[in-house]
Amino acid sequence: MAAAADALTVARGHRWRMTWASCFARIYDLSLWPGEHAGMRRHRRELLAQARGRTLEIGAGTGLNVEHYPAGLSELILAEPDASMSRRLVRRAGGRAAVVAARADDLPVDDSSLDTGVSTCVLCTVEEPEAALHEIRRVLSPGGRLLLIEHVRADGRWLASLQRTLRGPWARFACGCRCDQPTPDLLRACGFRAELRAARWRAMPPVVRPIVIGQAFAGP
Ligand SMILES: C[S@@+](CC[C@H](N)C(=O)[O-])C[C@H]1O[C@@H](n2cnc3c(N)ncnc32)[C@H](O)[C@@H]1O
Repeated sequence: MAAAADALTVARGHRWRMTWASCFARIYDLSLWPGEHAGMRRHRRELLAQARGRTLEIGAGTGLNVEHYPAGLSELILAEPDASMSRRLVRRAGGRAAVVAARADDLPVDDSSLDTGVSTCVLCTVEEPEAALHEIRRVLSPGGRLLLIEHVRADGRWLASLQRTLRGPWARFACGCRCDQPTPDLLRACGFRAELRAARWRAMPPVVRPIVIGQAFAGP
């Protein structure tokens, strides 16, 4: 009896998360709108101008990066595992990119076959960021690079403490996003050499305001 009740609770929790994920995808662009207009859109444009050759973006979401990719990439692949997110992504991609339903830890491309990887606000959300980073190392060619914008753990004591306090509720609201992800440390631990600068995600909630922008190389 107790086991059946537990199974029912788990099933209800799962159904609720699925329903919320679908709502979250619908409100995603609207909820980011203030931040996009206060500077994130410019950060995306400046970062993605550096994309070259065969390029793959993980967790491409609703496709807010699509308009910023330079013309002349040899191939653009947008990977997104969430069907609700990818509906808008497919529309935004039009004919210029291939959209694939793939997780960052299981990318449908060969070893050393990419010139550029892209991750914007994704390494906070993937369940196993180390597995995702190892997979990205697998698919990047020697000399290839990962372009990143990620919100991260705050340096300041007050904001770091607020992030710790709101970690749980924020993750429930933002479909698993960890507001205090130590992404620069994860990159180093997974063998990347990162060149990142700190910035602010203006006009967004304080817990996601500290961001890093830059590139990471898989080689020495
Ligand atoms: C906060 S959104 C970022 C979307 C987009 N990159 C942007 O800059 O607006 C996080 C995205 O990561 C995706 N995601 C979650 N888990 C993932 C995983 N294991 N592998 C790849 N993407 C994942 C989500 O579906 C969602 O689209």
